[in-house]
Amino acid sequence: MVDEAFAPVTSELYMPDEEIVRNAYVQDYEALYAEAQQNLEEFWAKQAEKLHWFQKWDRVLDRSQAPFFKWFVGAKTNIVYNALDRHVKTWRKNKVALIFEGEPGDQRSYSYWRLWKETNKFANVLRSMGVKKGDRVTIYMGRTPELIIAMLACAKIGAIHSVIYGGFSEQAIADRIEDAQSRLLITSDGAWLRGNIVRLKDIADEAVKRSPVIETVIVVKRTGHEIHMEQGRDYWYHDLMSLPIASPNCESEVMDAEDPLFILYTSGTTGKPKGVLHTHGGYQVYVSSTLQWVFDIKDEDRYWCAADPGWITGHSYIVYGPLILGATSLLYEGAPAYPYPNRWWRLIEEYGITILYTAPTAIRGLMRFGDAWPNRHNLSSLRLLGSVGEPINPEAWRWYYRVIGKERCPIMDTWWQTETGGFMISPVPSVALKPGSATRPLPGIDVDVVDDQGVPCPPGVDGNLVVKQPWPGMLRTVYGDPDRYVQQYWSQYADKGWYLTGDSARKDEDGYIWVIGRNDDVIKVSGYRLGTAEIESGLVSHEAVAEAAVIGVPDQVRGNVIYAYCILRSGYQPSDRLREELKEHIRHEVGPIAVPAKIEFTDTLPKTRSGKIMRRVLRARALGMPEGDLSTLEE
Ligand code: WTA
Repeated sequence: MVDEAFAPVTSELYMPDEEIVRNAYVQDYEALYAEAQQNLEEFWAKQAEKLHWFQKWDRVLDRSQAPFFKWFVGAKTNIVYNALDRHVKTWRKNKVALIFEGEPGDQRSYSYWRLWKETNKFANVLRSMGVKKGDRVTIYMGRTPELIIAMLACAKIGAIHSVIYGGFSEQAIADRIEDAQSRLLITSDGAWLRGNIVRLKDIADEAVKRSPVIETVIVVKRTGHEIHMEQGRDYWYHDLMSLPIASPNCESEVMDAEDPLFILYTSGTTGKPKGVLHTHGGYQVYVSSTLQWVFDIKDEDRYWCAADPGWITGHSYIVYGPLILGATSLLYEGAPAYPYPNRWWRLIEEYGITILYTAPTAIRGLMRFGDAWPNRHNLSSLRLLGSVGEPINPEAWRWYYRVIGKERCPIMDTWWQTETGGFMISPVPSVALKPGSATRPLPGIDVDVVDDQGVPCPPGVDGNLVVKQPWPGMLRTVYGDPDRYVQQYWSQYADKGWYLTGDSARKDEDGYIWVIGRNDDVIKVSGYRLGTAEIESGLVSHEAVAEAAVIGVPDQVRGNVIYAYCILRSGYQPSDRLREELKEHIRHEVGPIAVPAKIEFTDTLPKTRSGKIMRRVLRARALGMPEGDLSTLEE
């Protein structure tokens, strides 16, 4: 598939096109980086000035209770004021904010005015149902505009949204509802995926049964199939939106800059999901600045971030970032290759997409279908491409560059995390690119690759990726568990005050950073972040399983797939039927994305003397590699 002329070369360098540099928002990366370094607080204050504040800050950054940093202390704002309210007072009122295409082919579009009105209406509905500032609202829906409206409506009235990706199932949802203690759930009857209905409401019903803290469920009608509606608990969204309470006027709640905006659960090292908390003030500054620098959003652009709003990429770069910048975005509901492998390319042609931001797994998946599918379409509207979620292998990079971007469009390989709120290491359109490297840190971001003692690694040597200075988009805590926040991110280099990313990386001679992958118990499957512990506890919740260990094993398309090792309880025999049953069990407990590609039954698991499973050993065995240092092994 890949042209032989494009055989891998390690020192490949792609210089930016002159015209792209001339038009780029950041024309001189070095200068902007230096400016931020000179005075970090002044630099961020300057970015913050571009937004609306009900009241200005007294201080840009308060380090007094580090690592509980505070940004724009004393300022009053609301992110939705910047994302919607201020635009309807300008010519942008009539600009298209959102274009939606459903998988079946239905289309809708929302001007800023319409999106603002719908948000106001739903915000009033939520208020009338008793939702107040600081309350947590859980959202579990497919990729439709109502998901975005629900998020914005929560933020508008100061409620904290907790969006759960539609690929999670019963127990995963129940755990997240429980942790957030949300009393209201917004869901939909179903979602379209590969021509089938994903029965979201059925899954939500089961989750609510397991976490009865939910008192009210609001249901968006999307697929229209028969569902159960619980009297006194469940309400149709469209019914509520047609009531007089759904007035189209709603003032944005005045929030403190440090008031919580959302919780987003992500995987960590224990089975308990980690609620990453972001706030109104710093986050809005960070996502809008970074989006402007990296994707160079202009009013004429038609921008498409093909992620799911249920993950951080969607929160920051489908919902908040683009709306703050007044951009026009596309939201597509379904699978990339449905009904044919040209669906995405057809969307780009049909809507004149200028910027495409997606994940390596999608690129690799679509690459497999061959060049004929994209070549059938006119993709000349594209001017910038982006990648996120895992390292992009040079072969996929080159295909993306050559076949999709026609060698005209630079690829923004953005490295960041749920915790960082926005891009951290990424090119801007005016810098030279190396396939497979996210290049260098963005202005205001101070990263390094260091060994376990904190000594910087020389070029070419692997080490821990750390961030040395706070930034406005950083997580503020782990919801309800400040100790875990300190322990997880700030303890390894406590004396230096550095943030531990959990990734390993290396730098090259030019200071370019090459992220290798996670060095903790997090697995990236198709770019989705999963924790070994959550899948393992899903497995042992099955009556046949006594103990389980899961690992990630490299896969050509998905980046990694999951292998599971199970010790059975006495009285249970290994069989293919049991294997299938366990897969089905995980599908329900955690979600379809967490289903292991392979389940092996075993009598023992490699463990340390303290009883910790040595996943490194399992991984080496699965890959047929040397097992390394086994001195701590006690099998
Ligand atoms: C990985 C996704 C290499 C990394 C925004 C990180 C990447 C984790 C890249 C966070 C990239 C993300 N190159 N690796 N461009 N982007 N990662 O929280 O391991 O879902 O720690 O956030 O994804 O995943 P999360």
